[in-house]
Amino acid sequence: RTVYVNGDYLPETEAKVSIFDRGFLMADGVYEVVTVLSGKLIDFEGHMLRLDRSLGELEMAQPDAREDLLEIHRELITRNAIDEGLIYMQVTRGNPGDRDFHYPPEGTKPTLVLFTQSMPGLIDSAKAKRGARVVTVPDLRWGRRDIKTVQLLYPSMAKMAASAAGVDDAWMIEDGLITEGTSNNAYIIKDGRIVTRALSHDILHGITRATVLRFAREAQMEVEERSFTLEEALDADEAFITSASAFVTPVVEIDGEKVGSGAPGPVAARLREIYIDESL
Ligand code: PDD
Repeated sequence: RTVYVNGDYLPETEAKVSIFDRGFLMADGVYEVVTVLSGKLIDFEGHMLRLDRSLGELEMAQPDAREDLLEIHRELITRNAIDEGLIYMQVTRGNPGDRDFHYPPEGTKPTLVLFTQSMPGLIDSAKAKRGARVVTVPDLRWGRRDIKTVQLLYPSMAKMAASAAGVDDAWMIEDGLITEGTSNNAYIIKDGRIVTRALSHDILHGITRATVLRFAREAQMEVEERSFTLEEALDADEAFITSASAFVTPVVEIDGEKVGSGAPGPVAARLREIYIDESL
């Protein structure tokens, strides 16, 4: 693979960042994941707006102009011949030259790293056809989950708990209410109404979430942005998740109990179809 680091395109084995990088020592960095379908970037503007917001909330410098970031994304797609897959972009507060809790002085250059992940068959995923199974775990993440930071240890632990339970993923619960999935937003459908947690500091403001809810409203579906309990989810007709890489993926089982019929339902299937059709 050809990857990008601080202005250079390099073979992945030659790309390097400092051991003092704040991303490495402090998880002081933010990231975005943009999907590529048919060689095209999906929802690029939305992801860049969220990046700006993450950087702003952490008082971190912009790594590059929007046009330059777009150019780097396009260049990596070309150099790595990506048809279907993802582009990962990470910005950290850079290398202060030593370990220090305080932010380094203004003018310290942020570290910018991008790489591609080729994923042929991303759209036709088996998981989307059979539906995902999830377990619930307590949400033990920090209180600013709206900032897309690289502090992903707890989501990793939750994914490991899901694997240990023999299922696909985990949904997280706080104060008796579902927050979101480990790397996706969570939804239920009851009597035709789509229910998903409202935006706050408690969840990541999914770009796919925004797009899917817009399409749902345009298709005259009812959307309720409010928190829901595990009991409600188990009593729902359908459930699903959204993310850049999962698009709309049905959830058919939670904590070993079937959601609805236990098979992917019609509303999630319709939303997935609309999302993919409109994105291509
Ligand atoms: N995850 N919630 C969390 C906690 C996430 O990490 C993500 C994205 C989402 C969905 O956001 P979007 O629709 O913008 O992809 C929700 C990415 C894909 C990841 O970490 O790989």
